[in-house]
Amino acid sequence: MLITPITKLEGTFSIPSDKSISHRSVMFGSLALGTTHISNFLMGDDCLSTINCFRKLGVNIQIEEDTVTIEGKGLHGLTPSEDILDCGNSGTTVRLISGILSGQAFSTTLTGDASIQKRPMKRIIKPLSEMGATLEAKEDNFCPMTIHPHALKGICYHSPVASAQVKSSILLAGLYADGPTTVIEPAISRDHTERMLTAFGATVTREGTAVTIEPCKELYATDIVVPGDISSAAFFMVAGLITPGSDLVIQNVGINPTRRGILDVLLTMGGDITCFNEKEVCGEPICDMRVRYSKLHGTTVEGDIIPTLIDEIPAIAVAALFAEGKTYIKDAAELRVKESDRIETLHTELSKMGAHITPLADGMIIDGGYPLTGATLESYHDHRIAMALTIAACNAQSPCTLKNSDCVSISFPNFYQLLEMHSQRLSS
Ligand code: S3P
Repeated sequence: MLITPITKLEGTFSIPSDKSISHRSVMFGSLALGTTHISNFLMGDDCLSTINCFRKLGVNIQIEEDTVTIEGKGLHGLTPSEDILDCGNSGTTVRLISGILSGQAFSTTLTGDASIQKRPMKRIIKPLSEMGATLEAKEDNFCPMTIHPHALKGICYHSPVASAQVKSSILLAGLYADGPTTVIEPAISRDHTERMLTAFGATVTREGTAVTIEPCKELYATDIVVPGDISSAAFFMVAGLITPGSDLVIQNVGINPTRRGILDVLLTMGGDITCFNEKEVCGEPICDMRVRYSKLHGTTVEGDIIPTLIDEIPAIAVAALFAEGKTYIKDAAELRVKESDRIETLHTELSKMGAHITPLADGMIIDGGYPLTGATLESYHDHRIAMALTIAACNAQSPCTLKNSDCVSISFPNFYQLLEMHSQRLSS
């Protein structure tokens, strides 16, 4: 795709629905008794992978426009899949479904695309094995992975990583355990599982960084309205801040405290962002955001805030390129095991445009203020790398070519249409 520079972004629009919440609504709806209606569902490739997996496990799931209707089967009503379950590019699907499958009465094999087959599964194999399941994985760490369930026991697990996928996998297995299951994290990761499982009738409690789930007889269907995804809004927040003359309103953005780290970082960098119309929908806080072009300055992003913005670091890195001074990103080694090694891919690709980035084992140092020039860029089939490179390229001094840009369909199918609709190009 050819990306030509833009002069400003303006208008009022909504961004796509939250990926994490959409996944969970399908999973919990499938396990509940009764019919769950999900409105404003994200029809991105990852969430469609979750729907396909649960259809293969015998769940009747109907899709009509952006609404999904699920005839739940109950906690013990899933049926064996004739095929290996294909989780596509979705780490959330593989890791969360593994917890659920550990509590079933049949074995299941999971796999996914080339990226999924490189992502670490030991982080869930260890706790789920401690609970009693047997997980056979390639090199004990990678998909394809077969889960042989067993009577599960409740455990107290000190997770070495702040990962909502690991935490959720264990909590979902905990629904089937013989006693309470506790996960203690080094820092609090996104809490959509805790919020939504509570709405479906499970007993989940939190004390500091520890979350405990009680074993559960049944979950009960409830209707879900999915808010907009702050991880998708991130690209337009940053594009609005760095493109002179921009003035945007992004509607219906989820600002759950475990997800809103980017907002706090961009405000600290001097970003002119105002949140208004704050309200709560289905237990999740949302708002509208006005974003105006701003002169940004560098900052340090580290410590407990990292899990609240882990998916937004590619967008933050682009903001830092247009900020005065240095931005330090630390404590973010998890970036190395995302859809691509995002420290490596951001460094390699942004450097081609003239960016000054020093990669670190757990982050990067970005020296802002150097003009970007046109280059031929590669997304590595990583949706967030594709979108980060695009907003950087929109503000380069000459056109860029981005290879494999269609992977934005993983989380933001209409990214390029929205960008086109709300931006003015130099040539127009
Ligand atoms: C997700 C959790 C995060 C995030 C991913 C979605 C989720 O991963 O990067 O895009 O829905 O639970 P980790 O929990 O492994 O950090």
